[in-house]
Amino acid sequence: VRILVLGGTRFVGHAIATAAPAAGHRVTTFNRGVSGSDAPGVQAVRGDRYSARSLDALAQRGPWDAVIDTSGYIPRNVRDVARSLEGASGRYLFMSTVSVYADWPVRPLNDDAATLICPPDAGPDFGVDTEDGPTRYGYQKSGCEAAVAAVFGPERTTVLRPGVVLGPHEYVGRLPWWLRRMARGGPVLAPGSRTRTIQPMDVRDLAAFALLTVERGDTGSYNVCAPPDRTTFEDLLRACIRATRSDAELMWIPDAELLAHGVRQWSELPLWRTHPGVWQVDSSKARRIGLHSRPIEDTVASTWDWLSASGAADRNERAAEIGISPEKEARILGARAGGVN
Ligand SMILES: NC(=O)c1ccc[n+]([C@@H]2O[C@H](COP(=O)([O-])OP(=O)(O)OC[C@H]3O[C@@H](n4cnc5c(N)ncnc54)[C@H](OP(=O)(O)O)[C@@H]3O)[C@@H](O)[C@H]2O)c1
Repeated sequence: VRILVLGGTRFVGHAIATAAPAAGHRVTTFNRGVSGSDAPGVQAVRGDRYSARSLDALAQRGPWDAVIDTSGYIPRNVRDVARSLEGASGRYLFMSTVSVYADWPVRPLNDDAATLICPPDAGPDFGVDTEDGPTRYGYQKSGCEAAVAAVFGPERTTVLRPGVVLGPHEYVGRLPWWLRRMARGGPVLAPGSRTRTIQPMDVRDLAAFALLTVERGDTGSYNVCAPPDRTTFEDLLRACIRATRSDAELMWIPDAELLAHGVRQWSELPLWRTHPGVWQVDSSKARRIGLHSRPIEDTVASTWDWLSASGAADRNERAAEIGISPEKEARILGARAGGVN
């Protein structure tokens, strides 16, 4: 299959651009050459998806059987990109997110849940960020989905909606933060409940599923998350302890105490969020056509291997946004001295 990956050098796009040539596909990638590096075996085309001239030049390099768009965020831009490539590609797969759902993270979801309303020509200011529900990112990804469908039509459009994606090259820094924290050892603040289930998706399994839908010609939209009741927060943290060969001791602190201490959900203790719908996303539609999710142990070990090999094991580039400070962690644990576990 001839595939054009928009992006392809960073995380999700890089995993697709790495797996596709290995599976025998002919792959072109399109990016500015600013972040990351090209996967082996791809034909890399440089250009800016916000430049009409770059898009015209890109379209001349076709045809392709499918575009896989991993770098689309603004509806109006996705519409322009889709229009430029409509004659050059058979289908368009858009990498979206569960944030398009109106009820995420508050209520359990399936593939038919209502999505946020955003016009396909919306610009970067459309939508609002709320504390406990919809975000501008979610509104705009929903508008991007609409833009692709408006240009390619539903019979040539595929939309994948992952939740949290983890694995090698993760640049958000969620799993890297937990791994670095465990590597430091000692008493570690473990958030909420040890039995809370989570559904992170391994980036390599997401890439394999994207390629599967392209090979099969599947259209429509698919939630792409690990099964809802398989992996607990404790499984994740213990896998981090094993991968880093750490002496860390988990100290479980209940949600209410963390909230009383003003701990920021999702970012200060990555993946910790109390809303009941966060990890209740039904992906059975994708699973029925072949979505596979490897055990969390594998995701964690591979991510530590990558961090260690890249020399980034002790460097947190997004320290301002991700992770609790050692002082605050110690303060919360101290307030509970003699308490839990
Ligand atoms: N991470 C998660 O947990 C998660 C969860 C749900 C959904 N998603 C979705 O997954 C996708 C993430 O993709 P990703 O990890 O590969 O990273 P990304 O940061 O979204 O995309 C980066 C890629 O796009 C290229 N790019 C950026 N700006 C460009 C421009 N103006 N023109 C051309 N190329 C440009 C970058 O290369 P250059 O900088 O060199 O141009 C790079 O190859 C997103 O669509 C996101 O919404 C992620």
